[in-house]
Amino acid sequence: MITGWVGNDTYSPEETIVLGQNLAKFVQSGDVFALKGDLASGKTTFMKGVAKGLGYIGEVTSPTFTMVNEYECTPKIVHIDCYRESNIHRWLQLGISEYFNSDNVVFIEWSELISQLLPTNIIVIEFVNVGKNHHNIKLAKATKELV
Ligand SMILES: Nc1ncnc2c1ncn2[C@@H]1O[C@H](COP(=O)(O)OP(=O)(O)OP(=O)(O)O)[C@@H](O)[C@H]1O
Ligand SMILES: [Mg+2]
Repeated sequence: MITGWVGNDTYSPEETIVLGQNLAKFVQSGDVFALKGDLASGKTTFMKGVAKGLGYIGEVTSPTFTMVNEYECTPKIVHIDCYRESNIHRWLQLGISEYFNSDNVVFIEWSELISQLLPTNIIVIEFVNVGKNHHNIKLAKATKELV
């Protein structure tokens, strides 16, 4: 990731999408991001903007049930949601390690459920529900310990 992105407060889903679009300017091929935060804190909404910013024109939906969504753009986005599957063996079977060692850019919601599998250089973005429509989205530490 290119340094310089710190995050922001957002006051609507649209602002969160714009913030994700802005992050897209800083991502680099091979980056792995953990999107950490409560239910409905804006992680998937943010991904709509990231995908848009990287030139993806299709729809971005939650991978809660699909587990992994891939968006064809440059770099390719792999959007993972661990919420419904905490069995690390299942993730290994799915080939999660190959996603981490690739030219893709990977974003993981609920990564704390598979913390043993995460690369040490993972970048953490934290999402906090501050109030009605008010979300705080910021770059946190880029180490495994905080995931
Ligand atoms: N400032 C805001 N930023 C993002 N979403 C907002 C904001 N204000 C309200 N919302 C609403 O909050 C919800 C956020 O849902 P979203 O699916 O993005 O959350 P999530 O963090 O991915 O949740 P989950 O952990 O269930 O996957 C949406 O319904 C969105 O419209
Ligand atoms: Mg989500």
